[in-house]
Amino acid sequence: MNTTPATTPGRTSATHPGTTPAPSLTAPAGASAGAPAGSPVFSVDGLWKVFGPDKAAAKVPGSADADLPAADLRERTGCTAAVRDVSFDVRKGEVFVVMGLSGSGKSTLVRCLTRLIEPTSGSLTIDGEDVLAMDATRLRALRRHRAAMVFQHFGLLPHRTVLDNVAYGLEIQGVGRGDRRTKAAELVAKVGLDGLEDRRPGQLSGGQQQRVGLARALAADPEVLLFDEPFSALDPLIRREMQEEVARLHHEEGRTMVFITHDLAEALRLGDRIALMRDGRIVQLGTPEEIVGSPADDYVRDFVRDVPREQVLTVRTAMRPAVAGEAEQGPALGPATTVVEAIQAVARSGGPARVVDHGRCLGVVDDAGLLAVVAGLPATPGRGVAA
Ligand SMILES: Nc1ncnc2c1ncn2[C@@H]1O[C@H](COP(=O)(O)OP(=O)(O)O)[C@@H](O)[C@H]1O
Ligand SMILES: [Mg+2]
Repeated sequence: MNTTPATTPGRTSATHPGTTPAPSLTAPAGASAGAPAGSPVFSVDGLWKVFGPDKAAAKVPGSADADLPAADLRERTGCTAAVRDVSFDVRKGEVFVVMGLSGSGKSTLVRCLTRLIEPTSGSLTIDGEDVLAMDATRLRALRRHRAAMVFQHFGLLPHRTVLDNVAYGLEIQGVGRGDRRTKAAELVAKVGLDGLEDRRPGQLSGGQQQRVGLARALAADPEVLLFDEPFSALDPLIRREMQEEVARLHHEEGRTMVFITHDLAEALRLGDRIALMRDGRIVQLGTPEEIVGSPADDYVRDFVRDVPREQVLTVRTAMRPAVAGEAEQGPALGPATTVVEAIQAVARSGGPARVVDHGRCLGVVDDAGLLAVVAGLPATPGRGVAA
């Protein structure tokens, strides 16, 4: 998690009109397994979902009414614009978080990705293949094998054991009986449920049930896992444990994940990049450091106001250019070092620390720079992500 360099450019729908896939990505489905890390898996461009009578809904995207507040739009057209002109790529191997308050359009957006909800307009591809042009057979394959959804309520089969619930995921895949049990046992172990294979869902805690659901989704070995607020019903400790589980799985497998949450701490903990939604639009898309360090507007600034900045921002934000001799002395820190870690290093050494990337000194961090971050002062010239 958060392994993406802080310099990764963020995108917003407003500043990035085109998401035409590169030619290499228009290869037929199935060729995606070899796609390089960082290339788009999902590519979404100008996507709209307007709920309401079909004819009226189709007229909303791009119209003068499209920007109306939700209540006014409903009054004028009888429609609700849940997703408005949203554009982004989900890159291979990243955890892409969609965050926003309840009602901001997160669930609608993620359901549009596999057309569990039919988008009103816009374009949408997976590995370069047009999702909106898929027929029913192709769509079923998409949902089963390529982009599996993990819901908040996993819909476990109450009369089946843990092992059989997971094996059921494989049965849908068409895996033979013998292989099913072996593979299911592996997956049960992978999510930390060994020894509980013969229990029924009713005999498990909430967190354990989530793990069964996770194992079942993993059984499909999908290219992308889609999570819609899977942990919001769990108590904080178990929730934290499940976040760590997801982080561990991602770390071990490098599987692409789209993770929806209304919880900022969860978003910051899990996301390589975060799309912050408000009223159906993406108001900012960036790394946790970009969102916290350079909020796009007052709404985002308000949203991240209480985040402990020193735990999210890195030395890239706090550093200044090295002056004579500084590049050769003091403790060396990697560019992904958080400010809180740098404070400890500087406090121990009693002097500035160097920020070193692959043997090259990028700059130095000193008391003043680190304190400025903690105090929430704007980055000074020569310092910071804004520079
Ligand atoms: N089937 C539907 N029909 C009409 N309006 C809907 C429907 N589903 C969602 N909405 C509306 O779309 C907006 C976004 O909802 P949703 O995507 O569920 O948000 P979130 O997941 O962020 O809480 C809300 O205003 C919601 O009331
Ligand atoms: Mg939702």
